[in-house]
This record gives sequence, C-alpha cells and structure tokens, in this order.
Amino acid sequence: MKPSKEQWSSRFGFIMAAAGSAIGLGNLWKFPYITGTSGGAVFLIVYIIFLILLGIPILLSELAIGRFAGMNAIDSCRKINSKWGFAGAFGIIGAFGVMASYCVVGGWVIRYIINSVTDSRMSADYFAEYSSKSFEPLIWTAVFLLLTCAIVTGGVSGGIERVSSVLLPILIVFLVGIMIYSLTLPNAIEGVKFFIVPDFSAINGFSDFIRIVFNAMGQVFFSLSLGMGTLITYGSYLPKDNDLTSSTITIVALDTAIALIAGFAILPAVFSFGFEPTEGFGLIFKTLPAVFSRMSGGTFISSIFFVLVLLAALTSSISLLEVIVAWVCTKTKLTRTWAAIIVTLLIFIAGCFASLSIGAIPDIAIGNMSLFEFFSFFSDKVIMPLGGFFICILTGYVWGIPQASHEISNGGRLKFRMRKLFGVTVRYIAPALIAVIFAVSLFGI
Ligand code: PFF
Repeated sequence: MKPSKEQWSSRFGFIMAAAGSAIGLGNLWKFPYITGTSGGAVFLIVYIIFLILLGIPILLSELAIGRFAGMNAIDSCRKINSKWGFAGAFGIIGAFGVMASYCVVGGWVIRYIINSVTDSRMSADYFAEYSSKSFEPLIWTAVFLLLTCAIVTGGVSGGIERVSSVLLPILIVFLVGIMIYSLTLPNAIEGVKFFIVPDFSAINGFSDFIRIVFNAMGQVFFSLSLGMGTLITYGSYLPKDNDLTSSTITIVALDTAIALIAGFAILPAVFSFGFEPTEGFGLIFKTLPAVFSRMSGGTFISSIFFVLVLLAALTSSISLLEVIVAWVCTKTKLTRTWAAIIVTLLIFIAGCFASLSIGAIPDIAIGNMSLFEFFSFFSDKVIMPLGGFFICILTGYVWGIPQASHEISNGGRLKFRMRKLFGVTVRYIAPALIAVIFAVSLFGI
C-alpha cells in the first residue's frame, strides 16, 4: 500500500474539483424534479436539515480520512483500521453503480444539445421515442464516457483539476443568467412560491412524509457525493496545510447554491408556461423542451442549458471514475491510462444494459425495477447511506474524535471550532438518523 504521489496544485483547484464532483446531474436534473414530486418547499426544509446533520459531518470525515491516509478509498479506511477496508469498498461498488446509470443520462444530455442546436422539435413524446431506441442512445453514452475517460487519463492536477477549474465557473455564471431570465417570465412567482413556501397539505399521511424524508436523505448523499469514497480519494490528494473545515463548508455551500439556482431557473419557467412540476424523472427531458419551444429565444436558451448540464455531469463523472481508477492503479500494475480505459469499458457494458432496460429491452429488470432504476436506487438509496453510516462509525468510534480532530485541525495548528458539534453528529445523530430512515423506508418498521 503506497501513498498516492499525486496532489492538487492549488486550494482553488481542489475546491473546483470537489465542488465539481458534488455539482452535477444531482443538482440540475434530480434536485428540481425531486422537489417537484416531493411537495416543493417541504422537501427543501428537510433537505437543508439533513445537509447540516449528515452532509457536513460526513463530508468532513471523508476528507479527513483521505488526507490522513493519502491512499485510495479502501486502503485509506484500512489504514485507520485493518478490518475496515469494506467501508471504502462501498465506494468502489457504488461508484460503478452510479456511473452505469449516470453515463446513460449523460448520453441523453449530449443528444439534447445536438437537438437544441439543430433546432429539431422536441415534443413531449420525443423522450419516450428516443430512449426506447436500442442503438442510438448507446452511441451517446459511449461519447459521454469517452470524454470522462479522456479527462481522467490526464491525471489529478493536469486533468481533473484543470478541467474542473474552467468548467465550474462557466457553469455558475451561465446558470445564474438563465435563472435571472426565468425569474422575469410572466407568472414566474408561482414557481418561486412552490419552491420556497411550504404547503403542508401536500403531504398525504405518514408514509408520504417518510417518502419525502427518504428522498431528501438520498438527495443529500447523491448531491454531495457522499459515502462513495470520492471525497476520501480527493482528500488523499490534499496537502497537509489545507483547512478541511473551511473547504467542507465551501463545497457544501457551492453545491447547495447551485441546486437552489437550478430550482429558481427551472421551476418558475415550468409554471410560467402552464406546466406541472411533478413530471419526475422527465422534468428536464420532457417538460423543459416543451417550455423552451414556447419561449422566445428558446432554441438558444435550450442549447446553453443542456451544455451546462453536460459540464456539470462531466465534472461529477470524472470523480466517480477516479475513485475506481485510483484503486485499480494501486492494486494492479496498470498505468492510469490503461486502468481508466478498462474501467470505462466495463462501465459502458453495464451502461448499455441499463439503457436498454428502459427502452428496447424492458425485460432487463430486477424485481419491478428496470436495471437502470435498480442501479440508481441501489447506489443512491442503499450503498451511499450505508457507506455514509460506516464512515460515521469508522470516524466516530474506530478512529475516534480526538484523532480525527487532530487531522482536521492540522495537528492543532488550526482552531477546530465545530469539534463538539462534529463529535455529536458523527457519533450519534448521523448514524442514528441513517439507520432509522433506512429501516422505516426499506422495511416499513
Ligand atoms: N454529486 C453528483 C451529482 O450531484 O450529480 C453525483 C455523484 C458524483 C454521486 C460522485 C456520487 C459520487 F461519488
């Protein structure tokens, strides 16, 4: 087990890469549609509570573990305790599962960019028609994976950091532009109200409330890239003088800001043109194209919007691929390039089955879920919370708060003001919350 030699070249570059991992389809695609189907502002409130109780402590723990050990996710956990490699293994398995569905959606986004630019009409039925094709979606899935692989082969500072440092600021500036435009549309206020004024009457009983809570927890994990070894891996490339607490807060703040901006960009436009926010899954692929087609300048806005979604998706998919590649590189004699190519190929194979399962071959299913739904359910509702749970136990009990705090405070050189809160959330609140919500929603206990 040799420590990784790669490092981020600057604090800015690291923040862009880590926030780039966090900011992705989760913010621009999932967050608005889950908010739409989970009661709007009610969901938003639960989400923010989970950010504080789960998001910040787990993210900080992952960065601390990674920087302390300086190795891939599995070996970093193992360095803390030789029996705890499995906590990092969740990340490797989960990253593969997330990537298998993420690359399919990334492929749809590329297709939508092309349609926007060529001004092809995208009626609400276009999505069903396109995703049920067998061959074409696979090509765009492959293109998305090739882009991801090319960046990861460039290395940590030369590839991931350099690309994220350019793409993320572009994304932020243009998304704010679209938000301003959307907020000035007639009737936009209805979308704003839906997003920020809670309507408790929208909750139909206890089971509906649990569904919202479970969705919010899954979304915090997915959006912040938690429980997957991504931040352990990215933390392992950090120099010893980085202030982990302020990095954590910056990453969480950026991720949340982008999710909110995406909500303010999408929901007012949806309401303004008389559509419903409850489309779910297809909100940006079915409802938004219909919205764009009614807007003046819709073709232009649509092209920019889908390019932004692609940029966000890429800065996340590189982090997912990196988790697996970093591990493969230390376990085999493969170079980074070959490790990236082989892992990408395996993901592509899984992605093909996932894509076909929601289109041409619906028989590829597990229980009553298509393989695509299964990959995403299993990774963000099962693997990520479990991974997060074990990270809390590893940090809070096995490593111990004094040792973790020693790492977080850079050996006592920085003041760790949140130490008490960190200890309580990591040892008690976060694991208890995850366990209860998990049990209630999966087994109906
Ligand atoms: N956080 C990413 C998003 O919001 O799209 C998705 C993701 C990336 C999840 C990396 C997990 C991960 F390890």
